[in-house]
Amino acid sequence: MPIPAASLSTSHLLDLKAYTASDLEQVMDTAQAMHKDPASHAQSLDGCTVATLFFEPSTRTKTSFQQAARRLGARGVSVGASGSSVVKGESLKDTVQTLEALQAEVFVVRHAAAGAAHFVAQHTEGVVINAGDGARAHPTQALLDLYTLTAHYPAVRDLHVAIIGDITHSRVARSNIRALRTLGATVTVCGPPTLLPAHLSDMDVHVTHSLQDALDACDVAMLLRLQLERQRTGLFPSLHEYHTQFGITTAHLHQHPDLRIMHPGPVNRGVEIEAAVVDHERSMILDQVAHGVPVRMAVLALLAAL
Ligand code: NCD
Repeated sequence: MPIPAASLSTSHLLDLKAYTASDLEQVMDTAQAMHKDPASHAQSLDGCTVATLFFEPSTRTKTSFQQAARRLGARGVSVGASGSSVVKGESLKDTVQTLEALQAEVFVVRHAAAGAAHFVAQHTEGVVINAGDGARAHPTQALLDLYTLTAHYPAVRDLHVAIIGDITHSRVARSNIRALRTLGATVTVCGPPTLLPAHLSDMDVHVTHSLQDALDACDVAMLLRLQLERQRTGLFPSLHEYHTQFGITTAHLHQHPDLRIMHPGPVNRGVEIEAAVVDHERSMILDQVAHGVPVRMAVLALLAAL
């Protein structure tokens, strides 16, 4: 299948706010084509330079963007906070313009500051893809999560997904809520009151502080890591206590025989999820990781292919 002419609602991928159901479906269909037959897309970005600018740690997102770019025939350059002139005080704007002078045409950006990818988009002629900005958005994670759901279930709109954990500090939760609601899925968010943001009522989701209620209602539990690096202290008494109240265990899997588990990673075994649940046959965690490549191939191709 040839890549469809770029017809997404936006020329950058900064968040999923402007994405319609048809945008989401287009990404899913293109990812499926990339997944089934990667060889026939091997030249889609021939000669294009994709720069990964990661100013926060990453294993899955960065590696899968790099693999996706390579599989489309693009060249990759990589800049991080350490080892680059950012250490010497170079600004984000100067870093981007330097890479642009070195022929980079696509910028994949991860940064601790909300809005960083928007800022980059204002200072380059290239295509910008947000790989996570603070607690604001992580659109490609939500897209690969959707892809994983479509691989396991006949229709996303019929699903009830519970997003459980540190919602306040999670860019993954924000992007997933948007994508799932756009496709008509039911979403419940669950966590301790100190980790649920006040504006949830605007996001058209159910809210509960009871893990049992969330698990009784949902088909899929999407667990989130406690984003300790973004938290003030004192939001819950201890990691042990958090696990006791909100951690998913094999006992929960026995009580809910159809429940499947998602987690964007990195996982803290024994905190939000018992180790045996990570490795359980109803865990989709490694599928999510693997799907990062075709989904990011699709996003790169749809936004950057000539
Ligand atoms: C997430 C992130 O960095 O936002 N991970 C990811 O991209 N796969 C979630 C997290 O760090 O907990």
